[in-house]
Amino acid sequence: MKRRRMIYEGKAKILYEGPEAGTIVQYFKDDTTAFDATKKAVIEGKGVLNNRISEYLFGQLGAIGVPTHFIKRLNMREQLVKEVEIVPLEVVMRNVAAGSLAKRLGLTEGTPLPRSIIEYYYKNDSLHDPWVSEEHITAFGWASPQDLDDMVNLTIRINDFLTGLFLGVGIKLVDFKLEFGRLWENDYMRIVLADEISPDCCRLWDAVTNDKMDKDRFRRDMGGMMEAYSEVARRLGIMPESGQSEMKGPKLVQ
Ligand code: TMP
Ligand code: ASP
Repeated sequence: MKRRRMIYEGKAKILYEGPEAGTIVQYFKDDTTAFDATKKAVIEGKGVLNNRISEYLFGQLGAIGVPTHFIKRLNMREQLVKEVEIVPLEVVMRNVAAGSLAKRLGLTEGTPLPRSIIEYYYKNDSLHDPWVSEEHITAFGWASPQDLDDMVNLTIRINDFLTGLFLGVGIKLVDFKLEFGRLWENDYMRIVLADEISPDCCRLWDAVTNDKMDKDRFRRDMGGMMEAYSEVARRLGIMPESGQSEMKGPKLVQ
């Protein structure tokens, strides 16, 4: 069997060389980590759900004109994406106080914020993804002022759109993390949305009960993570047709 060249293995995904120049295959693993991978587990079927949820959300964002790296889903665990140069930042958008913001500023989780807040973290595992400001980002050249401007504008658009999309299916978008990449087309570069959007990198609460439907179930040992991710997929109307059984079985390697 022909195996593709692996380019990079991250905590939740593996990147393989794509079939054509400028393409990459993004493989979604079941591996689940938290707190800089000090906490780890394999949650069977998680990769299948994240692949499907992320495909759906990137497709919807693409349809309103948000530029993304996404090309198409290939199979249950893989999607074809455009090769981009990842900007080494995690861009976090927050609508409601939760997680590290609630802790840092002593806010009660669930308190709506006076307005949506964008934060940046420098992607560096050995430094534990430290919180940084626009000053650090431009001074150290991780992104130019123009790149940053593009990322902020896209993040605001994505937040407005996804907040409405999730609310329409009874889910509150509390916060989320995005990653962007530089897409080179000849001599022209533009910033596009990359990586994934899934319950691994969002906080999603049931709009009525505030039940957690995201990776906090794993971080906080609450259990029921697969049920929660499946419920997100079900509400979005994209649950794999044959349900849970489709998520198990041998791993597909082309
Ligand atoms: P935080 O409250 O822990 O800073 O997380 C903010 C959002 O970012 C939350 O939706 C989870 C997401 N996130 C990631 O996707 N990766 C990470 O490594 C961290 C720390 C948070
Ligand atoms: N994904 C990150 C890790 O494994 C942290 C998190 O999402 O909580 O370290």
